[in-house]
Amino acid sequence: MNKNILIIGSSGQLGSCFIKNKNNFKKLNIYFKDKKELDILDIDNLSSIINFYNIKIIINCVAQTNVAKCETDRKTADLINNISLINLSSICKEKNVLLIHFSTDYVFDGTKNIPYSESDITNPLNYYGLSKLNGEKQIIASGCEYIILRICLTYSEFKKNFIKFIINSKNKKELILANDVISTPTSCDSVVRFIYENINNNKIFEKQIKNNIFHFTQLGSPSIYDIGKKIKKLANININIIKGSIKDISSIKRPLNSTLSINKVQEMFNITPNNWEIELEKFIKYYKL
Ligand SMILES: NC(=O)c1ccc[n+]([C@@H]2O[C@H](COP(=O)([O-])OP(=O)(O)OC[C@H]3O[C@@H](n4cnc5c(N)ncnc54)[C@H](OP(=O)(O)O)[C@@H]3O)[C@@H](O)[C@H]2O)c1
Repeated sequence: MNKNILIIGSSGQLGSCFIKNKNNFKKLNIYFKDKKELDILDIDNLSSIINFYNIKIIINCVAQTNVAKCETDRKTADLINNISLINLSSICKEKNVLLIHFSTDYVFDGTKNIPYSESDITNPLNYYGLSKLNGEKQIIASGCEYIILRICLTYSEFKKNFIKFIINSKNKKELILANDVISTPTSCDSVVRFIYENINNNKIFEKQIKNNIFHFTQLGSPSIYDIGKKIKKLANININIIKGSIKDISSIKRPLNSTLSINKVQEMFNITPNNWEIELEKFIKYYKL
């Protein structure tokens, strides 16, 4: 089976992890394009790249992920997280390309007191969440073949992320972290390996797998404060971590419960992602080398 894969947005956090992990999946033909090489809005360039490399799968890592910027520049957020998906998914349909796309826990309002499942009602609290939800809807409406993976609080050695922020705060005396927000730190490596493995073993092409939204995170539901304390311990940082409330820390509305149920992905792919603490410990050991 032809598994020529195009990964777009390849210089972002997740895209960089796809590049880093590619050598473990030598059978896959993977072509990477960053924003300079392929702007997601340049549909002619996208079309010719698909034709030239005979692409069968597109993994879309393009996004505007800065939640504060999405609030102040709603036009760009909408263009990149929503409108771009109209062209991308219609070209996938026309050329019979499977679209693998990433979305977020921020499509939910966080008022539920257990992890959100894929069938729960969405109700984003901020513009980032709304634009990402609208992007999901464009893909589903297009009739292309797709997998949408909602992920949350992702981290890696690349770009800015919450885990690196804490580790790199070592010169500060204290840090106030929300004790009223729960989430699940999720390593980009585990997301990337999940995708590559399931392309490699053809699982992703199965009829019951395609055209689904899946939640993928590590296991566990710690508060942001708990995560900070764990990082402090693992990275051996001398900083005072203080309990705070999200309303005093962020001017942007964020869901208090940002946890996603991973029952569907566990059952349908027969996997058990690592607990968040185990994965975090692995990452910090590697990052601090
Ligand atoms: N990070 C998280 O905690 C998190 C949580 C849940 C879901 N997600 C989702 O996971 C996916 C990947 O996120 P990430 O963390 O890798 O984000 P990221 O580091 O911000 O990467 C996004 C990439 O998109 C590129 N891009 C922006 N506009 C573009 C355009 N017009 N054409 C082509 N490329 C463009 C950016 O390039 P420039 O940097 O050059 O602008 C950047 O390389 C996104 O769908 C995001 O919504 C992330």
